[in-house]
Amino acid sequence: MATVQTLPTHVAVVMDGNGRWASKRLLPRSIGHRQGAKACREVVEACLKQNIKYLTLFAFSSENWQRPREEVQAIMELFLSSLKNDAETLHEQGIQVRFIGGRTQFSAQLRELIDQTEALTKANDKMLLSIAVDYSGRWDVMQASKQLCKQVQLQGLNSDELDENAFEKHLSTYPLPDPDLFIRTGGEQRISNFLIWQLAYTELYFSDTLWPDFDAKELELAFASYAKRRRSYGLVLEQIES
Ligand code: IPE
Ligand code: IPE
Ligand code: MG
Repeated sequence: MATVQTLPTHVAVVMDGNGRWASKRLLPRSIGHRQGAKACREVVEACLKQNIKYLTLFAFSSENWQRPREEVQAIMELFLSSLKNDAETLHEQGIQVRFIGGRTQFSAQLRELIDQTEALTKANDKMLLSIAVDYSGRWDVMQASKQLCKQVQLQGLNSDELDENAFEKHLSTYPLPDPDLFIRTGGEQRISNFLIWQLAYTELYFSDTLWPDFDAKELELAFASYAKRRRSYGLVLEQIES
């Protein structure tokens, strides 16, 4: 255990900086989001080429609902048009797409498109692309806890027998392994309520590049940084080397 494989198996990305990218150009923030969607496509392609098995993208947090109404609306419209345009291509590329997060707040049209995209791509196995929308890490821990409580009640389990494995089965990312590499663009060095449970031993990488400018080359830099990391999971050097 604990040897670093050159490439991560699971990459999780906080795609931050769309608004600043637009503001710097005196453009509306919505244009930044549109440009951000292009960067998404490039990064998905680059991960596919590198045979990354799992890519999890933070596209919209539960807190983001509190942004100005026009911005939220523009982002929802962008989700709709991106899914309409890209679902077929993702399918042809052998990518399985799934959405993690709440769904009840989306329009019926968006929910339908999400369901259709998941159904269309469900048998694909080249890469699993998870898109976190209306997602928050604390929400995930809470909903998993509630499900576990229900299971305990229904099956009459003894709570002393519960362990991390029993809990993790209810997280929205299950059955994915925890991310190996977390990337956040846009210069802020925080998790912002992303995968708070799953990131326990993830290697963190922060880039000052704003998300719309993030590309295959930038991804290479993140992978190069990851390749140099020594993951020790609480052990000492000698244990890792043996
Ligand atoms: C990330 O970019 C995209 C979403 C949160 C939807 P931001 O919109 O947060 O961009 P900045 O951080 O304001 O530049
Ligand atoms: C995190 O970015 C959420 C997404 C990228 C979807 P935010 O811009 O919302 O996070 P804060 O406000 O910098 O913490
Ligand atoms: Mg931001």
